[in-house]
This record gives sequence, C-alpha cells and structure tokens, in this order.
Amino acid sequence: MITDGSAGRVNRQITLASRPKGLPAVSNFKMVESPIPSLAVGDVLVRTTFVSVDPYLRPAMNNSALLPTGACVPADAVGRVVTSRHALFRPGEFVQGMFGWQDYAAAPWYVLRKLDPRHAPVSTALGILGASGLTAYFGLFETARAVAAETVVVSAAAGAVGSAAAQLAKLAGCRVIGLAGSDDKVRYLIDELGLDAAFNYKGEHEWQPQLGAVSPFGIDVYFDNVGGRVSDIIFPYLNTGARVAVCGQISEYNRESPSAGPRWLNVILEKRAKVQGFMVTDFAARYAEALHNLSTWLRAGWLTYRETIEDGLENAPRAFIGMLEGKNIGKQLVKVE
Ligand SMILES: NC(=O)c1ccc[n+]([C@@H]2O[C@H](COP(=O)([O-])OP(=O)(O)OC[C@H]3O[C@@H](n4cnc5c(N)ncnc54)[C@H](OP(=O)(O)O)[C@@H]3O)[C@@H](O)[C@H]2O)c1
Repeated sequence: MITDGSAGRVNRQITLASRPKGLPAVSNFKMVESPIPSLAVGDVLVRTTFVSVDPYLRPAMNNSALLPTGACVPADAVGRVVTSRHALFRPGEFVQGMFGWQDYAAAPWYVLRKLDPRHAPVSTALGILGASGLTAYFGLFETARAVAAETVVVSAAAGAVGSAAAQLAKLAGCRVIGLAGSDDKVRYLIDELGLDAAFNYKGEHEWQPQLGAVSPFGIDVYFDNVGGRVSDIIFPYLNTGARVAVCGQISEYNRESPSAGPRWLNVILEKRAKVQGFMVTDFAARYAEALHNLSTWLRAGWLTYRETIEDGLENAPRAFIGMLEGKNIGKQLVKVE
C-alpha cells in the first residue's frame, strides 16, 4: 500500500497515438491516465522530475517492435523515490533510469543509478553527466581517437552530444570547428565554448569555402551527428588517415526513404579514412570511468553545459518536435514536477 501522498493520484503517461509521416505532430501523441504502478519486492516507485527528449525517438516511432501504438514513450529520466521495497533506496533520494514520459514509474532497484544533488544538479544525469556526455566521450576518444593538434569538425555542435564532443575535443588540444543551425548557436559555440570556428549551415552565406579556409590542412576527425547535406559538404575535406565517428543521422530521421547524395567512397579510399558507427551502449562497461572524468572536468570548470527546459509533461511532444526543428541549445529536457 502507498502511504506517501501518491495515494489517490493517477499516473499521466504520454503514449504513441499514431505513426508520423515526416515531421511528427503533437497529434501523434496522446496523454492517458492510469493507476500508480504497484511494487513487487525489490521495486522502487519513482516520481519523475525531468524526462529526456531524444532524437532516437523519431526512428523508434516508425518501428512497432520498439514502440507499439498505445505504449508509453520510452525515455531516460530522473526522479525522486516515493516508496521503496529495497533497503538501499529511501524515499526522497534521486535516481536516474528509463522511466519514460510519465509521472510515476516502478522499476527494479538494480536498474537505478543513485544521484547526489550536492555533486551536480540532477538534470545533468540526462545530459553532460549522462547519455549525451557519455556519447561524446566514447565517440570522440574511442571511436574517432582524436588527439592533440588534430582538426575536429562536429555537426549539431550546439546540441547536447555535439556541445559535449566539441568541448572534449578542445580539452584534448584539438582545433575544433562546429556546425549549427542558427547565428545564436554559432555565437554560443565561439563565445561560450571557445571553438576555433563555427558556421551556420542554414545561413545566407556559403559555408563550404570558409570550411576549406579554416581547415587548410584538412579534417582529421568528423564527429557526425546529422548526416545528409552537411556531411556531404564535409567529406571532401577529410585528411589522410581521417576518422569519422557516425554518432547520429538526424537529418534523415523524418524521411520516408533515404536521401540520395554524392558518393564519397572514393574519398574514403584516397584518404585511407575510417568511418565507424557506434552506440554509446557499446561502452556500458566503462560508464563509471567516463562519468568520473566528466564530473571531475565539470567541477574544475573545464566543461560547461546548457539545457533547454520545457515545463510540464503534457508539453513533451512539443519539446520533441522543437528539438527536431533545432529549437534547443544543449540538452532538451521536460520538467515534470
Ligand atoms: N550513437 C549513439 O549512441 C547516440 C546517442 C545519443 C544521441 N545520438 C545522436 O546524436 C545526435 C545528437 O543527439 P542529441 O541528443 O545531442 O540532440 P541535439 O543535438 O541536442 O538536438 C538535435 C539537433 O539536431 C539538429 N538538426 C535537426 N535536424 C537537422 C538537419 N536536417 N540537419 C542538421 N542538423 C539538424 C538541430 O540543431 P541545428 O539547429 O544545429 O540544426 C537540433 O538541435 C542525434 O543524431 C542522435 O540520434 C547518438
């Protein structure tokens, strides 16, 4: 029995109502109410505080095995323990887990990561000290193997993963060039993150010649978050021995079929370049090491982060569509409580 204030309350969930064609609409989602989940032995009931808004949800919306219609939208989240049936978790503690876009979630204790709000704001467990920071860390250092004095280009550089990757590359002593979709974002990359150059790929001016001018010796590492036209422009500048870490292809997520593009395997051949996709989960066994380093660098002031926060669970679909349209700087979150 629940005796903590959640008794008599309902659990609001955002579910998938229909599959989108192209850019999703708010009507592809539906809010439903259900009872507060009950707990088995070893389970913990969590009241979500922040839910994450992630690009991978868009491809998942096309996939009935990953996301059936009527199901609660899966998402990383942080929240407060309400009731616990495991001795290691106490009411009031903050935890992170895959709680989904909903007010309450019941989860087995062993999938929860405890958070200490005295160390960092709990929202960072979804961004710089969570999946975004981890993706940047392993994509840059393990997949792309960026080292000092190399030239690194990051696409979607003002986003959650991109802003972390760009800063980590600067920390590693690289020259870093960022691409982003507005002049505000370009200013953020130069003024706040200290990048060596940044371009608005949606701007009036052709950025291709300028990219050539700021990387006269070629590009050693391309951290690709977007694919499509942006990547087509970058590939010819790859240096001999370049590495491309394919992190995401967000420019393609709303398409019904893959876009046609120039063929660049000849560039890969001539430049002896390596193109490698990766999933952050490939490195799960090393999360503790990466989180230790990321939090040390954050505390030292060597890393910074931004969050774009939408208020209210009911507005999660709007935040998601806005993120696909590039309205966020840094990590897109929804504040639930
Ligand atoms: N491999 C992994 O394990 C892994 C893990 C997490 C995320 N990812 C991927 O990493 C990428 C970034 O994720 P995130 O969570 O950090 O999101 P994010 O960058 O914070 O937000 C998405 C950004 O993508 C940009 N964008 C949208 N449509 C675009 C287009 N057609 N062309 C170019 N840019 C476009 C927008 O910025 P602009 O204003 O700059 O256009 C938008 O702000 C995504 O592709 C995601 O799927 C991969």
